[in-house]
Amino acid sequence: MSKTKNQHWQELKTAGKESQSRRITDLFNSDRERKSKFNARLRGEDGDDLVLDYSRVNLDGPQLAALYQLAEASGFERARNQFRSGQAINSTESRPVLHPALRGTISDDYRVQNQPVMAEVLAVKNAFLTHAESIRNDPTITDVINIGIGGSDLGPAMASLALAQFSGGKKLHYLSNIDPAALQNLLGQINPSTCHFIIASKTFTTIETMTNAATARQWLVQKLGEPAAREKFSAITTALDRAAAIGIPPERCFGFWDWVGGRYSIWSAIGLPLAIAIGRDNFEAMLSGGREVDQNFFTAEWQYNLPLLLGLIGVWHRNFCGYSSRAVIPYAQNLARFPAYLQQLEMESNGKSIGTDGQPLHHASGGVVWGEPGTNAQHAFFQLLHQGTDIIPVEFLLGVETEPRQDGLDSHWQNQQRLLVANCLAQAESLMTGVAAPLGQRYRSYDGNRPSLMVKWRHLTPRTLGRLIALYEHRVFVEGVIWGINSFDQWGVELGKSVAVKLEPLVAAMKDRLSEI
Ligand code: F6P
Repeated sequence: MSKTKNQHWQELKTAGKESQSRRITDLFNSDRERKSKFNARLRGEDGDDLVLDYSRVNLDGPQLAALYQLAEASGFERARNQFRSGQAINSTESRPVLHPALRGTISDDYRVQNQPVMAEVLAVKNAFLTHAESIRNDPTITDVINIGIGGSDLGPAMASLALAQFSGGKKLHYLSNIDPAALQNLLGQINPSTCHFIIASKTFTTIETMTNAATARQWLVQKLGEPAAREKFSAITTALDRAAAIGIPPERCFGFWDWVGGRYSIWSAIGLPLAIAIGRDNFEAMLSGGREVDQNFFTAEWQYNLPLLLGLIGVWHRNFCGYSSRAVIPYAQNLARFPAYLQQLEMESNGKSIGTDGQPLHHASGGVVWGEPGTNAQHAFFQLLHQGTDIIPVEFLLGVETEPRQDGLDSHWQNQQRLLVANCLAQAESLMTGVAAPLGQRYRSYDGNRPSLMVKWRHLTPRTLGRLIALYEHRVFVEGVIWGINSFDQWGVELGKSVAVKLEPLVAAMKDRLSEI
């Protein structure tokens, strides 16, 4: 760590300690404008804004500015320029990281090591979206099954649910787990004659995906015979030769590039099942939402830069307040899978203990992120958030409105929506203010002073979702730069994979002796 960075780090450590004895409510009392000052807004081109309200974080203006200085001293500007210009910032794999190009336009002129990429990106996008439309409009296909895992599953699965209200007629299934029960359950629900499988794998070597695909193929061969089974697959991969080797014809294979990390790949052809569900225009709208955040991230001043602010707050909580986990609670049922999606995005990216300089870190890096939708979460684990011994900052994700409906129940829907919003606001407020116990009833006291922030929008549209995903992607980058780690490799998952391959032959022998397994 440079001398200047270390100096900022030490100052922030002291500030973090001091903040523990400060009430967030006092920050509000001493500044009547706090609510509007600690608020950043991304003005959406469709009139729906994305608002980040961080007024309930135990942070004051000078501390926030100090966090930005820490980012600067960590080389943030330089790193962001290297990222934007397609330099090989994934140092352990010597690869650029350029997923924003997938949601770019020709005028954005993204380059990989100075070679323009947009023409090729747009051509592939057109090809896979055309394929999506043809499946979408094919009346002989009723069910689409995506076989993939990690980044080849979580993004499209999360987004298909998030945008369920924009979905067309096909039934979508996501098969990821190697557990035979998963595929058995699925095969019980689909008709071999009317299904279509997508094999989604960046590497086309992942054992879960290749094994599930082989079993599904065998099932189809049994039911329909070899030639018909062959027609039932499309593939998405950077290894087009491997897809060809298992007999998937080039017109049903869609590529992407090694500069797209698996967990950043929803914008690429990996989004095919989602595009089948929501259609070309909605998929394009999601990309546009992501691009709006890119513009904010790459150009806005730090005070107006939503991902940067989110990253700075993340570092404040993790390193200077000492919180090791964070709850993300969507008050939007259709975002039920968003916390699981974030788990891969954040924990696979920033769960590192060796810095880019090859040395062990002397500070904490990525923490645990978890969550479930509200209001359900209130009736499950909010007890611990309010009265537990650990302080866990909460990120509330709040969709403020529900679309009016002409089904005779609209007053009921609007009432339910108001209750949803009221619950979210009530939780944020209660976590902050707390309440004193009635005499002799300490168990009823809430200490309060528990930080939270809120990300808000009006309608959960494809554009909103695109903004939300890109917001969290760039947050990972900001934190990674400050922590001095490479957020774009994932060596920590390799060991388990190779050990599993070695153990597999032994499992048959140990099967009858449970204690040896
Ligand atoms: O094991 C982790 C991982 O490599 C993730 O990074 C990736 O998203 C997932 O496996 C699936 O990889 P692939 O798309 O190559 O099948």
